Amino acid sequence: MPSKSKKVIYTLGIDTSCDDTAVAVLKNDRVLANVVSSQVDTHREWGGVVPRLARREHEKMIDGCIALALRRSGVKYIENIDVIAVTYGPGLAPALEVGVRKAREMSMEYMIPVVAVNHMEGHALSTLLKNSRGVNFSKLAKPQFPAIAVLVSGGHTEIVWIEELGKYEIIGQTLDDAAGEAFDKIARMLDLGYPGGPVLARMAEDGDPNSYPLPRPMKDSQDYHFSFSGLKTACLYNTNDLKKALGPKKFSKIVPDYCASVQEAIVDSLLGKVSRAVKKKKPKMVMFGGGVSANNRLRSKFRREMKKQNIPVYFPDKKFATDNASMIALVGYYKFLRAETVECVSKLERDPSITIEHALKKL
Ligand code: KG4
Ligand code: ZN
Repeated sequence: MPSKSKKVIYTLGIDTSCDDTAVAVLKNDRVLANVVSSQVDTHREWGGVVPRLARREHEKMIDGCIALALRRSGVKYIENIDVIAVTYGPGLAPALEVGVRKAREMSMEYMIPVVAVNHMEGHALSTLLKNSRGVNFSKLAKPQFPAIAVLVSGGHTEIVWIEELGKYEIIGQTLDDAAGEAFDKIARMLDLGYPGGPVLARMAEDGDPNSYPLPRPMKDSQDYHFSFSGLKTACLYNTNDLKKALGPKKFSKIVPDYCASVQEAIVDSLLGKVSRAVKKKKPKMVMFGGGVSANNRLRSKFRREMKKQNIPVYFPDKKFATDNASMIALVGYYKFLRAETVECVSKLERDPSITIEHALKKL
């Protein structure tokens, strides 16, 4: 149980939900250490994340990442940690298992309470993180609710209504592929490698976003949902035709323009539906989370549009946009203050398919 008299809480965060082994140490809401060990090289040759290999790599790296985070934070010893925050879902089951098992073992060995954290709640609140001097990374002075969180990652594309911290409702989501998935799959069609999102974005910087007219599926539907599979299919036919017509050398010349057009189509689809939600529901602020929110074009177009609508918009620092454990530790810290620790740690299990709406569930 959190002691009311203790003002400083040290939280150890662990996230092994996908292909990054991530561990962080926070002092209240301030990041002291943020360690991320990427498995990209392991999965690259398979063109995507292989769950069995992800588990093997997490098992290999987790102890080293914990030791490094403790050392970098200055907290040094696990005995100085007040609470362990671990992602228990959503994510890949074999990968999640590694973090959850480690949290269970440490909790029982060192008698440290555990908070089970929903990965999507972590992304939703990643703009609230502060540096070690207490300065917010996203220039967000004081969060205002109700708010809208836009979660755009490799597995999720969601508009979430946040009535208050811990209370979430998904008001819009993708009906098929996630935005990050669209970036990655289209990047593969363009032979840009894996993971393709950041590479496609980099190529797009030298291209003209208006050069190829690509579809914006569901643009005019009167809801807050998204669809990216139509864009993906259009790109598949389109790129095959272009490759055949131009040949490899000439095709490589048009790749920047094509990337810029793809990026514009994805960003415009997000912008249309989020703008509709903001106009209708009038939140006090909009906050972004997830890997795709690292995208520069997305940031500039949303900044312009939200300014027009007079709604403050915040983006996570880029190292907290993609998967990390600082956001997990932050949610863990808030939950610890609300005494939402796991009652029976030995029974804590991963839950791969939960949504952010399960964030309130008592474990
Ligand atoms: O949040 P994240 O690290 O992992 C998940 O929880 O899925 O998001 C990864 C996704 C990938 O699809 C990746 O291609 C995409 O975020 N991504 C980007 C950029 N950086 C990462 N997409 C577009 N532009 C970027 N700069
Ligand atoms: Zn994620």
